[in-house]
Amino acid sequence: MTIKDAPSGYGWLSIGLHWFNAVAVVMLWFVGNKMAGAAVSDEEAAELLRVHTSVGVTVFAVIWVRIGWRLYSGHPKGLPDQGRIAFLVARTVHYTLLILIASLLISGPLVSWYGGEAIEFYTLGSIPSPFAANAALHEFFEAAHRWGSNVLFGVAVVHMSAAARQLVFAQGEAARRMTAPTGH
Ligand code: HEM
Ligand code: HEM
Repeated sequence: MTIKDAPSGYGWLSIGLHWFNAVAVVMLWFVGNKMAGAAVSDEEAAELLRVHTSVGVTVFAVIWVRIGWRLYSGHPKGLPDQGRIAFLVARTVHYTLLILIASLLISGPLVSWYGGEAIEFYTLGSIPSPFAANAALHEFFEAAHRWGSNVLFGVAVVHMSAAARQLVFAQGEAARRMTAPTGH
């Protein structure tokens, strides 16, 4: 079966979740930055926030499954041509990405809720806050969400550059791990 991971490679479940996550997180990042930019009016920013929270709620459960699956399944071993240090750096980058994504999934809803706002879900309705508004916590989670998304951007660029470098300049065996199951 190539659904599950092998000791030295990913299966279809990990590959599917990786690309679902990558598209969803990049989309959330772009919409989030656009709405926070100076060039948009208040109405546009409110509309973009509705898009941001709606997409966030839509992908929320799948991304938690993706994080849980990596913790449950573990990280595949390095490849023979990879080198110990390169493997340790890659694995650290991967877990850092997962921690940052988890922190954004937690801080995002709390920004709205501690700000006394419901979470808008398309035009279908909204998820009311289970908490009383709290200005200090709102500011804390707002800063955490902003900084988390900035750091995520930096770490994701390192990750994508490493994958591109592998494909262009090296054998690309580690990079090909995310296109089809290997090591089974
Ligand atoms: C990995 C997933 C996510 C990423 C990458 C992301 C990214 C961003 C970015 C870049 C901003 C603009 C920050 C700024 O410069 O002020 C933002 C703002 C915001 N996000 Fe997210 N976000 C994610 C998940 C979520 C989720 C799941 C929710 C809620 C359902 C959410 C709710 C919000 C809210 C309410 C704001 C406005 C914060 C403010 O008032 O400044 N986000 N997000
Ligand atoms: C063009 C974009 C991308 C490419 C080419 C790419 C490629 C890869 C490859 C080849 C691996 C396997 C590396 C190995 O195990 O040695 C991997 C793993 C991983 N990637 Fe990406 N990636 C991309 C975008 C992203 C983005 C945007 C994120 C998160 C925001 C991300 C998060 C991860 C994580 C957490 C892993 C560890 C395995 C897992 O849990 O899925 N990747 N990526």
